[in-house]
Amino acid sequence: MEYKIRNFKIIVEETADAWGKQSAAWIVKQLHENPASKIGFATGGTPVAAYKELIELYNEGKLDFSRMITFNLDEYYPIRRDNNQSYYYFMQENLFSHINVNPDNVHIPNGEATDIAEECVQYEKQLEAAGYLDLQILGIGPNGHIAFNEPDDHFEPNTHHTTLDKKTIEANARFFNSIDEVPTHAVTMGIQSIMASKKILLLANSASKSEVLESTVFGKITPQLPASVLQLHHDVTMVLTADCADGILAHIR
Ligand code: GLP
Repeated sequence: MEYKIRNFKIIVEETADAWGKQSAAWIVKQLHENPASKIGFATGGTPVAAYKELIELYNEGKLDFSRMITFNLDEYYPIRRDNNQSYYYFMQENLFSHINVNPDNVHIPNGEATDIAEECVQYEKQLEAAGYLDLQILGIGPNGHIAFNEPDDHFEPNTHHTTLDKKTIEANARFFNSIDEVPTHAVTMGIQSIMASKKILLLANSASKSEVLESTVFGKITPQLPASVLQLHHDVTMVLTADCADGILAHIR
């Protein structure tokens, strides 16, 4: 089912399989329109099924990634690239090593940078030089974060070094042996860097996101719930599973 609710196009899929295919379809559409598209990639548990679908389409000869330019949203800091928890590693494992993306076209904040302030400036400069993104893929944190823009008293516009919120550390502990291993800091694109994207594709597929998605669409626009800023973007598509669309759809039933 497809809905237009406020400024959001909301697509709801009943099964995990349909959700993965629908999510991938938006990325495919972008690449078919322009094979040299600049696409912002997200990490986390959410987009994995969508990336699997892209790999399948590639293996079937239906997609060419050779001209695609990529920028990732964020990275833990400090972290080595070969650490299997780094987002660099995640992207290789879940997408890049399986497709014909040109490694020269891949941008991921450098978790190994010695001067983190300079890394942030340079990453933003690269985004700016590219003219920002055509399509930004986003997940959403249980606290309403997008990338690692955590709840705060202000929106941080550009790429920055940040301290992770307790809720984020708790949420991401599932990927680690223990919560003590979860990094406490990260580098992340800022709110302006994300909002500058021509199109935004927000993906969610877990019932635990229902409430935060409802606040994203209907709540006050506030840096305490960073995703609420998406109410100010003119081209946001959400691809949701039915269980996490519940909170939003309750408003129109
Ligand atoms: C992570 C990432 C975000 C991601 C979010 C949700 O920590 N920094 O970019 O969208 O939190 O993660 P998940 O998809 O695992 O729920």
